[in-house]
Amino acid sequence: MHVIPDESYREQVIEYVQEHLRDGSHMNGAGGLGRYVNDYDGWLQKIANDRNVGVTETTVPAETYMLVRESDNRLIGMCNIRTQLNDALRNRGGNIGYGIRPSERRKGYNEINLYLALVRCQELGLDVVLLDCRNNNIGSYKTMEALGGILLDYYDDEEEGLCRRYMINVDEAINTYRNIYEPRIRRR
Ligand SMILES: CC(C)(COP(=O)(O)OP(=O)(O)OC[C@H]1O[C@@H](n2cnc3c(N)ncnc32)[C@H](O)[C@@H]1OP(=O)(O)O)[C@@H](O)C(=O)NCCC(=O)NCCS
Repeated sequence: MHVIPDESYREQVIEYVQEHLRDGSHMNGAGGLGRYVNDYDGWLQKIANDRNVGVTETTVPAETYMLVRESDNRLIGMCNIRTQLNDALRNRGGNIGYGIRPSERRKGYNEINLYLALVRCQELGLDVVLLDCRNNNIGSYKTMEALGGILLDYYDDEEEGLCRRYMINVDEAINTYRNIYEPRIRRR
């Protein structure tokens, strides 16, 4: 399930960050958590504010969710939904960022994470969402493709290198993949 971060997840989120640091792994979709490693309250405040930010050349509103496994309440991953885009994000970055903690990767969790993000996008009335990833991030683009992602184009980013840009039709994806992912959400 997707859960809005709050005080009750303080220890789990700190441990989630530490696992990424130990692993030397990227932490994506966490609403800037990497910049608040020692300031959980500051991060909670920041992601709460993000929900109400206006669209400007440099800012957009965003929602951050934790993917939590219901059977043991374990924090598995995170995702960040940019609910409106500015021109910069329309070209590069897109609507959704996500990540799964290193010890829980390659178990199908990110597909559930993206499915739940799409359900939220549908609630928000988004018809189409854009997603980007590095060309060599196979786990990321396979997740998008598993949910009906259509490869739009490639672009060269100064920092990230070659990247792929995908589009997902939200209603179509949910209608097509509901029967696959709804049972998986309940099973875990
Ligand atoms: C990318 C990431 C989110 C994938 O999470 P995950 O939970 O391991 O993904 P899933 O288990 O749901 O797998 C999704 C698909 O990708 C494939 N996959 C996942 N990791 C892979 C890898 N390292 N190499 C090849 N395929 C991979 C899976 O086999 C699955 O494909 P399938 O549907 O054909 O079986 C995770 O590796 C991660 O957090 N990486 C660091 C942060 C990051 O890169 N975020 C995305 C930025 S755009």
